[in-house]
Amino acid sequence: MHRFATAKKELLPQASARRIFDLIKDELSLVEAEFERQASSNFQVINCLGDYLRASGGKRVRPALLILSNYASGGDGASENSIRLATVMEMLHTATLVHDDIIDNADVRRNRKSINARFGNQTAVLMGDWLYMSAFQTALRERSLEILDILTRLTRKMTEGELIQMTMIGNLGITEDDYFDILRRKTAYLFSACCEIGATLGGADQPQQTALRDYGMELGVAFQLLDDILDLTSEAEQLGKAAGTDLIEGKLTLPLIFLLKREPALKSQLESVMLDGAYTSFTRKELRERLDAHDILDEIRSRTQEFIARARKSLDVLPESEYRSCLEDTLDFVTTRNN
Ligand code: IPE
Ligand code: IPE
Ligand code: MG
Ligand code: MG
Repeated sequence: MHRFATAKKELLPQASARRIFDLIKDELSLVEAEFERQASSNFQVINCLGDYLRASGGKRVRPALLILSNYASGGDGASENSIRLATVMEMLHTATLVHDDIIDNADVRRNRKSINARFGNQTAVLMGDWLYMSAFQTALRERSLEILDILTRLTRKMTEGELIQMTMIGNLGITEDDYFDILRRKTAYLFSACCEIGATLGGADQPQQTALRDYGMELGVAFQLLDDILDLTSEAEQLGKAAGTDLIEGKLTLPLIFLLKREPALKSQLESVMLDGAYTSFTRKELRERLDAHDILDEIRSRTQEFIARARKSLDVLPESEYRSCLEDTLDFVTTRNN
C-alpha cells in the first residue's frame, strides 16, 4: 500500500497530506498497479526482489508531483501516459535508493531491511540496474525524445551527485556551494523532472513548463534540506531508516557545515565520529546541544522556507485550480513531514 494511503492513519494531523491523497488517490492506485506490471519479470529472483520493493512502500511523492503538475497544466493526470511516466519516476527513485543504500552501507529502508542487507551488495547492484533499465524501457513507450532527453540528463546528474558526494566523504572543508551542488544533483533534479514531465504531457506552454520545473527544483532542495535535518533530530523508528548516519558515513550536511563555521574547535569531535563510525566519544545528544546552542537548525529551517516561498511563487503563472492548490499543499507536506 502506498504511503499516502498509510499517511491517512499515520499523519492525520497533516491536513496537507490528506488533501493530496484524497484528490489523486485513484491515480496513485493506478501507479501502484503499473509499478506491479513493470517490475514483474520471468525471472524468479527479480520477481522476488520486485515483490519486496513494491511491498515496502514509500511516500510516493514523486509520482504525486507528476500527476498534480499534469492536471495543473491542463492535462488528464489519469491518462495512460501520465500514469506510466509517474510510475517511471518512482522506479527511477527506487533504483537510486537501492544503489544509495549500498553506497551508504544502510541496513534499513522504509522500516525493513534494505535490499543490500537482505540479499547482499552484488544482487543489490544488479537489482538497481534492472530497475533503471526497466524504467527507461517503460519511458520509451512514450516515443518522446523530449522526455527521454530529460530522463537521461536527470540520471546522469543523479549519478554525478552521488559521485561528487563520494569524493567529499570525510572532507570537513566542504563548502556551502559544494553542498548545494550535490543536493541539487542527487535529489532536486528528480523532483524538477517529475514536474516538468507532468507539464509537458499536460500540454503546458513554455512559461508554465519552466515554472513547474523551477517549482520542482526549489521543492527538491527544501526536501533534502529537511532530510538532512531529520537525520540529526529524528529516530530510526520514525524515519524508517537509520538516523544520525550522515556524519558517521562522513557526509557533512549543511547543519554540520554551519556548526564548524561557528565552532571550529568541534572539528576533532566530528572527525572522531567519522573515524569511530559511531557516536562514542562525542554523543548524538552532545552534537544536538551544540547545534541548538547556535540555533543552527532553526536557521536552516528558515532557509528551507525561502526555497518553499520561491516554489510557491513559481505557481503563480498556472491557472487557479484544485490541483495547483494541491501543489501548494505539497510544499507544506514536505516541510512538516516527519519521515
Ligand atoms: C529518500 O526519499 C531519498 C531522499 C531524497 C532524501 P523519500 O523520503 O521520498 O523516500 P520514500 O520514497 O518515501 O521512501
Ligand atoms: C538521498 O541521499 C539521495 C538519493 C539519491 C537517494 P541520502 O543518502 O541522504 O538519502 P537517505 O537519507 O539515504 O534516504
Ligand atoms: Mg543514503
Ligand atoms: Mg539522508
